[in-house]
Amino acid sequence: MTGMSFRWIPSNPSLRSSHYLPRSESGFPLPPSPPTWRLRGHLLPPREEYGPLIAIRSGTEKIVIIGRYKAAVDIMEKQGGILADRPRMIAAEELLAGGLTIGFAHAGERFRRMRRALHMHLQPKAVEAYQPLQMSHAKKTVLNILDELYNFLNHTGTIERVLKAMRPGAYLVDSIPWLKYLPWYGRELKRGYESSKRLYIRQLNHVKQQIQSNIDVGPSFAKYVLENGHSYGITEIEAAFLAGAFFSAGSTMTSMATCTVLMAAACFPEEQAKVQAELDSVIGRHRAPTFSDQQSLPHLQAFISEALRWRPLSANGLPHRTTKDVIWGGYCIPAGTTVSGNHWAISRDSEVFPEPHTFKPRRWIDDQGRLRDDLRFFVYGFGRRVCPGEHVANRSIFINSLLIFWAFQLTLDPGALLDDMGYMKGDVQRPCSIQFKTRVPEAELRQMMQKHSESDVA
Ligand code: HEM
Repeated sequence: MTGMSFRWIPSNPSLRSSHYLPRSESGFPLPPSPPTWRLRGHLLPPREEYGPLIAIRSGTEKIVIIGRYKAAVDIMEKQGGILADRPRMIAAEELLAGGLTIGFAHAGERFRRMRRALHMHLQPKAVEAYQPLQMSHAKKTVLNILDELYNFLNHTGTIERVLKAMRPGAYLVDSIPWLKYLPWYGRELKRGYESSKRLYIRQLNHVKQQIQSNIDVGPSFAKYVLENGHSYGITEIEAAFLAGAFFSAGSTMTSMATCTVLMAAACFPEEQAKVQAELDSVIGRHRAPTFSDQQSLPHLQAFISEALRWRPLSANGLPHRTTKDVIWGGYCIPAGTTVSGNHWAISRDSEVFPEPHTFKPRRWIDDQGRLRDDLRFFVYGFGRRVCPGEHVANRSIFINSLLIFWAFQLTLDPGALLDDMGYMKGDVQRPCSIQFKTRVPEAELRQMMQKHSESDVA
């Protein structure tokens, strides 16, 4: 806490009977705390009745959770500069990532340099270069589904380790920092770091060798950062971890997002049929879809947006940290507070998403049948820490969903368990099992997929 003192005053009316709230020097109280704040409130599930902001305390740490859309826009987006920092996460950041992962980096010069490098390579225009590669992968995926070799999630190890290390209370070192200096403490975290480091360095060296041998590696962030890293002041090990973010977090998150869309299609067959009617009318079944169909497919895009709102992948959001006081709605969030936009609670904000628990792609379409440009959901997070991979991920989810919806009818396997909240709980394995039935005669489908994948990589 920087430059702040608190005295305890009665809380706001809805919570007054159960506990008290501190008031900051600014004269504004902290946001209200739910009744369980004494029980290390971070174990509290996000609940809609708690309102736009709740404050909880974990030891000496203050945490504010944002659970409404407007509060998220006003605080995390409009005051993004004050929320660009991350709190200290010893298990996830220092032990597992060796302080090298941009996702946990603290605001400052080094963070800005790394973000700039990512941004230059991943801005909307630049990621068009990935289209042929993404198209070719999407077509291979269709062929793999036909051959029953389909497995989107094959890089899950790293992200599972990170999710576990970030889970509140998972590692005592986050409450007792000196534990990190004990050689026998957190061995699996330190081993995880060594194994990521080996993997990322090997991958970077592989690209380096390809460049030296004049092999065309196509669009590649590793190549970009090897050739341009010096102008951002990025060291080789930082470059390896930056490129590693693509491979590990980036590809796993994109696969999980695509799987969420496919799971929604299997769970809501009438909505799937509406998208397929659009595909039949815009594309027909005698040619393969392409990226250039995107503008003519608002119902597919609406379906994707709704699926990622329905089951947000990052349900709790990643924690940010305030570097100055933020005043909002008569409350003060003091400097040094951990602030999380809770994707799940925001996705259930009925003022913005009426009937929030209903899967309703139509909500993303306006009266003229076009995609609404006044509605969005924070799939990729907030403000200055918004996911830099957003544009490349969106294209990948789009093209995979497009080809799969066009090629197959998807149904749930009645003999398998369905856990449609699986990804949100951090279980990155299989939340459901999907059956695929071809909508295009198989021989034609194979021909179109093979023909196109050859021309895409040529
Ligand atoms: C559908 C796929 C993806 C989803 C849902 C997703 C989601 C997120 C979220 C919620 C955050 C935290 C934002 C915040 O703190 O408010 C984040 C950060 C990040 N993502 Fe993604 N992401 C995806 C794909 C990717 C891809 C493809 C890449 C790499 C190209 C990537 C790289 C990163 C990095 C480096 C950060 C850390 C940024 C920072 O801390 O400044 N992500 N992502």
